[in-house]
Amino acid sequence: MALLAPSILSANFGNLDKDLDMINSSEADWFHIDIMDGVFVPNISFGFPVLEAINKKAKKIKDAHLMIINPDQYFQTFKKLGIDYITIHYEACIHLNRTIQEIKNLNMKAGVALSPHTNTNLLEDIIDDLDLVLVMSVNPGFGGQKFIENTYRKIASCKDLIIRKNSKALIQVDGGVCLENAKKLTDSGADVLVAGSCIFNAKDPLQMIKDLKISTK
Ligand code: DX5
Ligand code: ZN
Repeated sequence: MALLAPSILSANFGNLDKDLDMINSSEADWFHIDIMDGVFVPNISFGFPVLEAINKKAKKIKDAHLMIINPDQYFQTFKKLGIDYITIHYEACIHLNRTIQEIKNLNMKAGVALSPHTNTNLLEDIIDDLDLVLVMSVNPGFGGQKFIENTYRKIASCKDLIIRKNSKALIQVDGGVCLENAKKLTDSGADVLVAGSCIFNAKDPLQMIKDLKISTK
């Protein structure tokens, strides 16, 4: 069964506590927290005061997906605010090795996200150091976008790389995940599914979380 990480981006920010409680009481495994800077991606999500509020409530693993340039300067703050996994974008980092070591030196798990155009082979010389690879199945920046079909092939090639290099990295997939593709994504090699609009737009989000989990069995 895959791990499931509901994406807070699609939650109701007018009553965030309610949605955080819903996830706490659900079968979901992680909180997926999207941070956007309006530079790396053409959107701005939320910053540290909101993260502080999330940290006070959220009782599960907190996974921050940083869609920002120059992420290194904020790692200590993310650590203080209870983040367990930091995922930075391959396309936003000049010295990826140094950036990954900085995350790990603060005792957080380190992930690298690949936008749809970025080839998995580029991780060949860093995969040993990673706890997670995030395969983006939409262009980063917005919830509710259409799933890119090439993702299955990409997850499979990422899995090959992980096996070949004997890496322990988890494969996470993010964007357009829903009941129709969850099983195929898991069968292709995904370990963690991120889902935003599919959960929060559902009539019964708790039931949708349950259904998504069961569908990956
Ligand atoms: C998009 C974000 C996603 C987003 C997914 O850039 O990284 O985490 O919330 O939303 P859905 O599941 O609606 O595609
Ligand atoms: Zn995300």
